[in-house]
Amino acid sequence: MKKYFAMLLAGMMAVSLAACGGSSSASTAPAETEAETEAEVTEEGTTEAEAPAEAGEETAAITTVEEGVLHMATNAAFPPYEMISDDGGFEGIDVEIATEIANKLGLELVVDDMEFGSVITSVQSGKSDIAMAGLTVTEERKQNVDFTESYATGIQVIIVPEDSDILTVDDLANDKMIGVQDGTTGYIYCSDDYGEDHITSYTNGAMAIEALKGGKVDAVVIDNEPAKAFVAANEGLKILDTEYIVENYAIGISKDNSGLRDAVNNALTELIADGTVQQIVDKYITAE
Ligand code: ARG
Repeated sequence: MKKYFAMLLAGMMAVSLAACGGSSSASTAPAETEAETEAEVTEEGTTEAEAPAEAGEETAAITTVEEGVLHMATNAAFPPYEMISDDGGFEGIDVEIATEIANKLGLELVVDDMEFGSVITSVQSGKSDIAMAGLTVTEERKQNVDFTESYATGIQVIIVPEDSDILTVDDLANDKMIGVQDGTTGYIYCSDDYGEDHITSYTNGAMAIEALKGGKVDAVVIDNEPAKAFVAANEGLKILDTEYIVENYAIGISKDNSGLRDAVNNALTELIADGTVQQIVDKYITAE
């Protein structure tokens, strides 16, 4: 209820802001005039996208939280999609794809690192522009944000100690304790399938792995690529061959900002089509 009211208020504010801003970004100007406009900032938080290639096409006005900036809400503890680099910055597949998208839109990428459970609310409440965090598309999340097309597949897998008696997904039902990350699909599926009593939830994957090594949980359910990274970095663990759930990653954007959603989606589509996304993935994930 509170959230709904806040959204309503935000919507009303946006409307009144637009009303008094006298924005010229509504793309009614003739194409010739627009062709000369390059990533021109028209008002607070509104950046004109690069001039359209063809006459007659409309210049989309992109409104972001901060003028000239694309704020990416993520949880940078999810290698190889997002993690903190040796020099304290951010790196990973999502960070690089988002940088390319920002470049296309004439914006500068800023990474907002937070708990995974906050990435969607950060976008909903207008603190960040995009949620990009190895974020799985689910029906429930679609109620809260719009998603772009998918740019990667995620698979929920099971990590166990090398000598574990858990051999398949079915063995998780044998009164086991499963470690998951807060607010993730791994958490949702496991609590649905095995009950809350059999789940221990951790702030991030690394903490769940520590608990597994310390014998506090019998298995960890997490996305396959981070799973590989964690198993490579920790001795005595393995990933079970059986896949638990296959899912799609996409970028979440506020339902109140269809202009940004379309612009980001178009940029992503181009980056997929011209092979940029694959190049970035190949940098971080070596084919088996
Ligand atoms: N794919 C899972 C989900 O969307 C886990 C994502 C966790 N991402 C992260 N950056 N910690 O629920």
